[in-house]
Amino acid sequence: MKNILVTGGCGFIGANFIRLALASLDNFRLVNLDKLTYAGNPQNLADIADDPRYRFVQGDICDASLIEQLFADEQIDTVVHFAAESHVDRSITGPAAFIQTNILGTFVLLEAARKAWGDNQESLQSGRRFLHVSTDEVYGSLGATGYFTESTSYDPRSPYSASKASSDHLVSAYFHTYNLPILITNCSNNYGPYQFPEKLIPLVINNALQGKDLPVYGDGKNVRDWLYVSDHCKGILTVLEQGTLGETYNIGGNTEKQNIEVVTTICDLLDEKVGVLAGDNPRRSLIKFVKDRAGHDRRYAIDASKIKDELGWQPTVGFEEGIRRTIEWYLEHSDWVGSVMDGSYQEYYQKMYDGRPQVTSRS
Ligand code: NAD
Ligand code: DAU
Repeated sequence: MKNILVTGGCGFIGANFIRLALASLDNFRLVNLDKLTYAGNPQNLADIADDPRYRFVQGDICDASLIEQLFADEQIDTVVHFAAESHVDRSITGPAAFIQTNILGTFVLLEAARKAWGDNQESLQSGRRFLHVSTDEVYGSLGATGYFTESTSYDPRSPYSASKASSDHLVSAYFHTYNLPILITNCSNNYGPYQFPEKLIPLVINNALQGKDLPVYGDGKNVRDWLYVSDHCKGILTVLEQGTLGETYNIGGNTEKQNIEVVTTICDLLDEKVGVLAGDNPRRSLIKFVKDRAGHDRRYAIDASKIKDELGWQPTVGFEEGIRRTIEWYLEHSDWVGSVMDGSYQEYYQKMYDGRPQVTSRS
């Protein structure tokens, strides 16, 4: 019997992970600890809320006494740590929350695990696991060629990626210093159901449906490596079950795309599915090139050969299939979109775009 603590389970990847865990694991109990920030939505798991294997606790990972209590009450032996402030643009306009949650919150969790699990070699044989979910952004920005491997030097460029890099170092240090049974995953850009509509793909889907501008930063040629979220979640489970303690595993989709290609693909698929805009205008006409993101990383590309060769994981959903599924999901969940975009999001969006489109050219 495993007692799993998932942090940030009401967010995008966490919610997808909990669904996968409930559908595929045996003999476990799962506690989901989530603060319910603007990005966390209990609706994401409403249909499984009454599952007897599942418990939701609203709380902050920075709350040391709550975390210690949870470790004791629930006899936690496995942690899958998703909770974070995750949006780069928000980290530029307001870095403090990123330092608090991503660095201090991770520290609080590590300390609670150390106190509950002890510091000794046996702890490494106990079957306990602390899996820290991190990002490829810690490696910085690539030029036209090359890939991030697990030994690429850290070179974070945004307050978000710097906070995640810092948390990775702390997690790794707890393995070496305190024998904490840790694992780290560094993944590329995810997309799929339940992603908050501030990130590129859901933002473009929703704006394009409503006939709103599609803001493309800079020249639109920045490259991201896209991975369908269920593949990331399967990768995390694979590392949890088979990974070597103390190790890092890169997870990626082997799907490099320029942002402009992603945006035009979504426009064309929506035109095909729901028809073009009034006046016979294709959705590509909504594209606006706007002022670039500060410190905008040019290219990410993951070399995921370690997890493939050592643990047998590889992506199963290609971009063409994944983006179709994602668009379908958002078309079928317009209520969800409306409900998550509350006043605070609207306010942020106004600040971000209305004040600043500074259109540099028109597609
Ligand atoms: P998200 O923003 O959708 O969700 C984050 C969740 O954490 C929300 O439910 C939020 O309420 C919760 N949370 C935030 N602060 C908290 C706190 N102090 N205490 C408890 N809960 C808190 O994020 P996501 O996109 O699902 O990302 C999850 C994790 O995966 C993050 O650690 C992120 O760095 C990492 N990651 C994301 C991607 C991606 O493409 N989205 C890629 C690689 C890694
Ligand atoms: O690489 C993994 C990371 O991917 C995760 O760690 C982060 O949590 C996640 O948010 C994501 O970061 P990005 O900054 O790459 O994702 P985002 O969706 O914000 O942006 C993707 C690209 O699209 C990036 O080059 C910026 C650009 N962009 C984004 C937005 C929101 C635009 O051109 N216009 C936009 O409106």
